[in-house]
Amino acid sequence: MKTIGVLTSGGDAPGMNAAIRAVVRSGCENGMRVMGIRRGYNGLMQGDMYEMNLRSVSNIINRGGTILYSARSPEFKTEEGLQKALSVAKEVGMDGLVVIGGDGSFRGARDLSLRGLPCVGIPGTIDNDIACCDYTIGYDTAMNTVLEMVDRLRDTTESHDRCSVVEVMGRHAGYIALNAGIASGATAILIPEIEYDFQRDVIDRMIRTQKTGKKHFIIVVAEGVGGVDEMVKRITEETGVESRATILGHVQRGGSPTVRDRVAASHMGSRAVRLLSEGKGNRVVAMQKDEIVDFDIFEALSMKKTLDLEQYRVALEISI
Ligand code: ADP
Ligand code: F6P
Repeated sequence: MKTIGVLTSGGDAPGMNAAIRAVVRSGCENGMRVMGIRRGYNGLMQGDMYEMNLRSVSNIINRGGTILYSARSPEFKTEEGLQKALSVAKEVGMDGLVVIGGDGSFRGARDLSLRGLPCVGIPGTIDNDIACCDYTIGYDTAMNTVLEMVDRLRDTTESHDRCSVVEVMGRHAGYIALNAGIASGATAILIPEIEYDFQRDVIDRMIRTQKTGKKHFIIVVAEGVGGVDEMVKRITEETGVESRATILGHVQRGGSPTVRDRVAASHMGSRAVRLLSEGKGNRVVAMQKDEIVDFDIFEALSMKKTLDLEQYRVALEISI
């Protein structure tokens, strides 16, 4: 392959820049021309791209966000949009494309691969909701951000003998909530993967711990469960503990990536370029049991992700 493109798509994630850097540097070192495409599939359809070199990616490994910007592109999902993107790729002589994003973005990569443009996906999303991966770029940084925020909330929650109900991101997945909930010592964790009974899993747990002398409480709720404003009313009414709701929101998507995200992104970027240089498209790079692996994109998209129930059991046992 002589010319490859790289883009970031969907919700941004800390570590995307480290992945771009790895793709550009590996591509250049392997004699490729690397085109940086702005704003995801929108930029591909509009030809909004520039040639990158070793120095285009200097001083970005430490930065959150994405220097290529990101977007969601409904037009790209149509056959017309796909054809537009393919004709731009042909015009600039693009032989392969690296797509950094979530599973929506991978579906786009699959559609391009099927129409003759070999693509490799790199998992970049704070949600950690990609089935073929134990771990996605941005997840670790987001969890650490949540932890810092919840620790701060704990300070004021304790000072006022209150209950803080905190909603964290994750779209339909509860990985951020479960892990950050364990790490922050939450009394209850509500996630979409596990059916809950508010009386049993929140109110009764609070009352039980009140009897042991506990006076302040943290409840972590995944956005896929939602409803935190209603929850605080009910908690105040039924336990007598003054409660506040906090929706952490997009702060979780920003910030300098952690070691884990930078290292994972660097290895994944390098693997993606290696695959393309071997003429292999239609692949997704992933991490499983701390190893970098890759899968056929169809196989990757048909997999189902499970949640570690033992983790939930441990959370229940010790956060009392
Ligand atoms: P993520 O990649 O984080 O899951 P989205 O689901 O928003 O984020 O997808 C990002 C972009 O990928 C969409 O705006 C669209 O351009 C493309 N995309 C998403 N789903 C599909 C699909 N089923 N087919 C083709 N392209 C898709
Ligand atoms: O996929 C990342 C994510 O931050 C989800 O956790 C969240 O549901 C969604 O993106 C928010 O999207 P937007 O940036 O469009 O508000």
